[in-house]
Amino acid sequence: MIGSVGSNTTLALTSHGIKADYEPEVMRMGNLVREIARRSEYLLTKKRTSAKNMVDTNNWNRIDTNWGNISEKKRKAITYNSEFMKACRKEETNYTPIWIMRQAGRFSRHYRAIRSNHTFLELCKTPEIASEVTLMAVDQLGVDAAIIFSDILLILEPLGINITYTKSDGPRILNPLRTKKSIENIAKFEIDELEFLFKALRITRKALKPEIPLIGFAGAPFTLASYAIEGGSSRNFELTKSLMYKDPELWNQIMSLLTNATIKYLNRQAKEGADALQIFDSWIGCLSPADYEKYVFPHMKELFSKINKSVPTIHFGTGTSSLLKLMKKAGGTVMGFDWRVDINKAWKEIGYNSAVQGNLDPIVLFSTPSVIKKQVKELLNKVKARNGHIFNLGHGVLPATPPDNVLALIDAVHEYSDS
Ligand code: CP3
Repeated sequence: MIGSVGSNTTLALTSHGIKADYEPEVMRMGNLVREIARRSEYLLTKKRTSAKNMVDTNNWNRIDTNWGNISEKKRKAITYNSEFMKACRKEETNYTPIWIMRQAGRFSRHYRAIRSNHTFLELCKTPEIASEVTLMAVDQLGVDAAIIFSDILLILEPLGINITYTKSDGPRILNPLRTKKSIENIAKFEIDELEFLFKALRITRKALKPEIPLIGFAGAPFTLASYAIEGGSSRNFELTKSLMYKDPELWNQIMSLLTNATIKYLNRQAKEGADALQIFDSWIGCLSPADYEKYVFPHMKELFSKINKSVPTIHFGTGTSSLLKLMKKAGGTVMGFDWRVDINKAWKEIGYNSAVQGNLDPIVLFSTPSVIKKQVKELLNKVKARNGHIFNLGHGVLPATPPDNVLALIDAVHEYSDS
C-alpha cells in the first residue's frame, strides 16, 4: 500500500513510476495516517486480490479492481448477506450499516478534482468516470453501500426535456412542461438513451466488493414533475401545484407518463446490477395529506407495485411527517426519514414491519467529532430495540461539510452499534 499525503507527493511518486493508492481528504500527515489506518485492511485486500487476479496494480484505476472470477449467482448470494441488505429485510445485523446521500459529491476534494476537468453532465454520461466516482466514495469513506453516480433529472432527456446545470442555481429545464401542447410534444420514452447509466452500473458492480451492495435510484414522479414544470428548483412550487389543481386531467397525464418511464428505468437498473433502489420524492413535503392522496398516491402505488419484488426499495422524501403513513401505504421496503421527525415516533407510525433509513441532521456534521458522536449514540439508542435501521443523514451531505467529520460519523455509527 502506498499512501501519499497529497497531490504534490503523488506527482513526485508518479514521476518515479510509483502509483499512490491513497490520498487523505485533508492533505495533512496526521490525516493520512488516521485514514490509512481505518481503511488499510480493505485497501490491502483489494490490492492483493486484484494483483492475484492479474491486474497491474502499479497502473490501475478503481474500475479495474478484480475480486476474483466468481459467478454472478455466488456474487448475489454474498451481497444478499451484507449488513445493508439484511437491514432492509429487518434481519439482525452485526452492526448498523451506513451510507450517505450524496456521498460522492462536492464535500470531497477528490470529487472536486475530477469535476474540475469535466462538466457535471460529462461526469454522469461517461460510464467509466461515473463508476470511478462511485467507487471512490466507498474506498475513502468505508460506507456499507455504494450509490451509482448520476442525477434524478437525467430520465427527462429521453422524454425530450432538455436540462443544463448552472453553477449558481442548479438545474435548468430549457423547455418546461406547462401546456397540453408541450406534453403532446414529449417524445416516446426510449430507455436505451440511458445506456450510459446502465453501463456505469455494470462496470461498478463488477469492480465493487461483493459484500457492498450497489444502490440504483430514480426521482419520484412528483419531484420530477416539479422540475419539469417549474423549469428548475423552486421554493413554493406555484406552477406545479396550480397545474395540478386547475387541470387534474393534464396532471394525471404527466404523472402517468413519468411513472411509466420510472418503472422501466428502475427495473432496468435492477437488471443491470443495482441490488437496491432508492426513490427520491425530495419535494413531496410541500403537499397536504389530502392532496398527496388525491394527486400522487395512485401513481406511487402503481410505481411500487410494478418494481421487481426481489429488489428492496427505499422510499425517501423530506418534510414528510404528515405524509409518512400514506407514503408507506404506497410502497417501499425501507422508509427514509429526514431529521425533522423523531425516528422512533415515525417508525411506530408507519408500522414496525418496515425497515427505516435516516435521519441525522446534515448540519450536525458542521459541528465537532464529539458532538457528532453524542448525536449518533442518541440516535442509535432510540432504535436499538429493533432490527432494520440503516443509518443515513436526513438529506444529502452538503458541499461545505468538513470531510473529517464525515469520517467521524461513519466510525461512530460502526463503533457504537457493534455488539
Ligand atoms: O448520492 C449520491 O452520491 C449519488 C448522486 C446523486 C446526485 N444527485 C449527484 C449530484 C443523487 C442521488 C442525486 C439525486 C438528486 N438530484 C435529487 C434527489 C436527492 C435530493 O438531494 O433531494 C435531486 C433533487 C436532484 C436534482 C439536482 N441535481 C439538483 C437540485 C442539483 C443542484 C443542487 C446541488 O446540490 O448542487 C443537482 C446537481 C448534482 N447532482 C450534483 C451532484 C454531485 C452537483 C453537481 C456538481 O458537481 O456541480
